[in-house]
Amino acid sequence: MRIGILGAGNMAEALGTQWTRAGHQVMVSGRDPAKPRALAERLGPSARSGTFAEAAEFGDVVLVAVLHSAVTGVLTAAGAETGTLRGKVLIDCTNAVVPDRFALDLPAGASMAEQIADQAVGAHVVKAFNACNESVWRLTPPVFDGRPLIVPLCGDDAEAIAIVRSLVTDIGCEPADGGPLERASLLEATTAFMIGLWFRGVDAQAMLPPQKYGTSA
Ligand SMILES: NC(=O)c1ccc[n+]([C@@H]2O[C@H](COP(=O)([O-])OP(=O)(O)OC[C@H]3O[C@@H](n4cnc5c(N)ncnc54)[C@H](OP(=O)(O)O)[C@@H]3O)[C@@H](O)[C@H]2O)c1
Repeated sequence: MRIGILGAGNMAEALGTQWTRAGHQVMVSGRDPAKPRALAERLGPSARSGTFAEAAEFGDVVLVAVLHSAVTGVLTAAGAETGTLRGKVLIDCTNAVVPDRFALDLPAGASMAEQIADQAVGAHVVKAFNACNESVWRLTPPVFDGRPLIVPLCGDDAEAIAIVRSLVTDIGCEPADGGPLERASLLEATTAFMIGLWFRGVDAQAMLPPQKYGTSA
């Protein structure tokens, strides 16, 4: 698969490395060519680098992996309003978390994923990979206590979801159906809450009971 990555930071490197290893063709991108070029060299000979517009054009799947406050500008640079991402799978891993407060830098009930879907004309947006630190996405594979990490996906297009499920499986994780894109706001808020706990030293994993206690049925 051809995967364009908007960004050349930690998430671009973590997921780009995994997908390159899995045999996908990856193009990373940035506003300054030096950083994506250096990252592409680290990813290996099959990887390449370019502008945001070139990565959007290159990918059948495109990952948005820039700072949340930069997303609107980066999507504009990628031509999102003019339909450059039409028909493509657009994965959103961003978290609009305000440092120190661990609150969301969004209007109540809004989500980055839906804002991205509004801007990227015709793209099939899937929220994924936002719920764990980049260090987790570098693990080969991300398995804890013998259990593969579950990656929830929110999106409205069944084909796009199926493609992202395969990209989750490629890195040794298990995809889970998180529901339609309107539920991305819940996933984003949950992640912000968890990040707040983790930064306070709380073992947030221990907060959740085993699945059989999830309902009283
Ligand atoms: N780090 C994590 O553990 C983690 C986990 C899950 C999700 N996320 C989310 O993933 C996204 C990327 O995080 P990251 O850890 O990869 O961040 P990062 O390492 O700080 O990289 C940020 C990326 O955003 C770009 N960027 C920042 N400001 C920009 C601007 N004004 N215009 C254009 N590009 C700009 C940077 O480009 P320059 O190098 O040119 O500044 C860089 O490519 C964020 O939305 C974050 O919330 C992060």
